[in-house]
This record gives sequence, structure tokens and C-alpha cells, in this order.
Amino acid sequence: MAKVFITGSADGLGLLAAKELIKQGHKVVLHARNEKRGQEALKQIPGAKHVLIADLADLDEIKALGEKANAFTFDAVIHNAGVYQTSAQQLLDVNTLAPYLLTALMHKPERLIYLSSGMHLSGKPDWTELPSYSDTKLHVLMLAKVLARKWPDVHANAVDPGWVPTKMGGAGAPDDLQKGYETQVWLATSDDQATRVSGQYFHHQQQARYNRAADDVKAQDRLLAECARLTGVAL
Ligand SMILES: NC(=O)c1ccc[n+]([C@@H]2O[C@H](COP(=O)([O-])OP(=O)(O)OC[C@H]3O[C@@H](n4cnc5c(N)ncnc54)[C@H](OP(=O)(O)O)[C@@H]3O)[C@@H](O)[C@H]2O)c1
Repeated sequence: MAKVFITGSADGLGLLAAKELIKQGHKVVLHARNEKRGQEALKQIPGAKHVLIADLADLDEIKALGEKANAFTFDAVIHNAGVYQTSAQQLLDVNTLAPYLLTALMHKPERLIYLSSGMHLSGKPDWTELPSYSDTKLHVLMLAKVLARKWPDVHANAVDPGWVPTKMGGAGAPDDLQKGYETQVWLATSDDQATRVSGQYFHHQQQARYNRAADDVKAQDRLLAECARLTGVAL
């Protein structure tokens, strides 16, 4: 039985991953943006006992979430919460800085999973103004690759769930919704040797083609330095 924390588990892929993990007998701690969404999440996922609250667009709330999460011990953390059609500032805060800060502040679990996207392929590692969605999804892959270098005792990987019909993906999204959360659940809990890797990019439980800019160690270090500067927290 694994203990798993999932950000953004009041809806979409986070909620579905939480349900599946509980169905398989694992323990899950949920996360939602506010109390109301937290109560809605607990109602939808009866097997979950705890929900932690934080608006991931607010750096102080992310920092407080890191502290609250450290009251628990987790085997795996799924950095799932994300935004797509919103301001560039929110993209930066929710998609890049929240996973960075939580990773830096929380006790190290054995496994870290970051929700990337096929759209990261057109992302750029550096940003001069504010990043695009594609940039932020490249950032989390780069973060997984940084951790593979710096934290050899941790399995940190990124996942492209496909274009699936959630609130974000929209009703017309063409890919399989179940396949959209299975890979995260597998990476968080499976004994399969294929999950015992780090710094890799997965799609449907297979390593997949990714933007090679993510391998640039100097760009990875620049990203870390920029995240540290913006948050005041070093990894
Ligand atoms: N759906 C796709 O086709 C697709 C494709 C590629 C990658 N992804 C990635 O997969 C992940 C999950 O996406 P999804 O499709 O499940 O999206 P979703 O249905 O929109 O769910 C996103 C989750 O993140 C939470 N969230 C967003 N902003 C937040 C904030 N400021 N503070 C706290 N929580 C916040 C949402 O809370 P509320 O419910 O309260 O808004 C929700 O629980 C994302 O990282 C996304 O980028 C999705």
C-alpha cells in the first residue's frame, strides 16, 4: 500500500487518479484550491480522508501547503494541478513555480510525477517575459531531469496524459480518458522495473519522444536559478 499526494485532485485527471489509487488499496491525500472545492473532492472520493487546501496561484499558499503536507509521509507525489487558458502569470505560478516549490519544501518521497503535455514540444526552456503553457510543460520535464541528476535516490518522471476530455481538455478531446491517468498511477505505485527510472518522459506507460532542449544541463540550471529567485526558495 502506497501513500500518495495529488495536487489538483478536485477534478479531472487528479480526481480520476485518486479514485483509481484508492480502488487499488492505496492511501491518497487530496488537494484543492479552497475549502468548498476540498469538500466537493472528499464527497466525490469517499475513500479519501484528508484534503489539503491551497491556491497554487499564490506563492505564500504554496509554501503553507508544503508545510501542511509535511505532516504526512508520502511514497509518491503527483504534481498534477495545472492551468491552460489563463494569464501568463498564473501559468508560471501554477504550472511551474508550484511544482518547483512543493518539490523543494516537501520531504522527499520515493517517486515524483509531473504532469507535462505533448505541447511541451514547442516550449522554450528560457523565458524573457512570462512563459507560455508549452514553456511551463517543458519546465516540469526539465525539473524531473534536474532531480534525476541531483537526487539519485528519487524516481522523478514526467507524463504526457494525451489530449483527454476533462475541464481543461474539453468535451471533444480525442484521446482515451482512462489512459490519461493510468500512467501516473503506475509510476506512483508499480514494482514494474520500467517505473524505476528517473528524468524520463512517459506517454501511455511508454517512454516517448520529447523536446531535447530539456537535456541541456545549463538550461536546467538556469531554470532552477530563476525558480529560486522568483520564490526565494532554493532546491
Ligand atoms: N486534459 C488534457 O488534455 C491535458 C493534456 C496534457 C496535459 N494535461 C495536464 O494534466 C494535468 C491535469 O489536467 P486536467 O485535464 O485534469 O485539468 P482540469 O480538469 O482543468 O483539472 C485541473 C486541476 O487543477 C486544479 N487547479 C487549477 N488551478 C489551481 C490553483 N490555482 N490552485 C489549486 N488548484 C488548481 C483544478 O482545480 P479546480 O477544479 O478547482 O479548478 C483541478 O483540480 C494538468 O497539469 C494539465 O496541464 C492535460
